[in-house]
Amino acid sequence: MTTTVKTQEMKVKSGTTDIGISEQNRRGVADILNRTLSDEFVLYTKLRNYHWNVVGPMFQPLHEIFENQYDEVEEIIDNTAERTRNMGLKSIGTMNEFLQHTTLQEQPNEYPNAMTMIANLVGDHEALIRNLRNDLEACEKFGDMGTNDFLTGIMQKHEKMAWLLRAFLEDE
Ligand SMILES: [Fe+2]
Repeated sequence: MTTTVKTQEMKVKSGTTDIGISEQNRRGVADILNRTLSDEFVLYTKLRNYHWNVVGPMFQPLHEIFENQYDEVEEIIDNTAERTRNMGLKSIGTMNEFLQHTTLQEQPNEYPNAMTMIANLVGDHEALIRNLRNDLEACEKFGDMGTNDFLTGIMQKHEKMAWLLRAFLEDE
């Protein structure tokens, strides 16, 4: 076995992630990813809740659009947690931690009308977009253009989902 292969093998066995970003910076990126994951989980749950409980003449289109969006958010959740693992760090994975780290608010015991549901969701998408926009700069400072690119893609998905919902609130 050559020395290079042996060194590489030792690195992998010791759990070292040698991708050109210091451990401190990777931890900073993981904090961002874990907070994003927490926000996505709260939004996912809210979309499920509204999919189940929406009523009124807009039932059918809203029931469907909420389902489309929780499917999309579910994919974001999986990719975000796995991105943290790509950085060599642990992803959080308990409801307890998601609630500790999220910046979004839940409204327990409330069953809002359809228009309020849409307004709440637009607000959450927009909050996520604003958070992500700040995170992009932080990732750049951490020297992690991979996560910068990854989060840019997520931000664009939320921009589109917010637009699809906002259209229901706008006058013709
Ligand atoms: Fe369903």
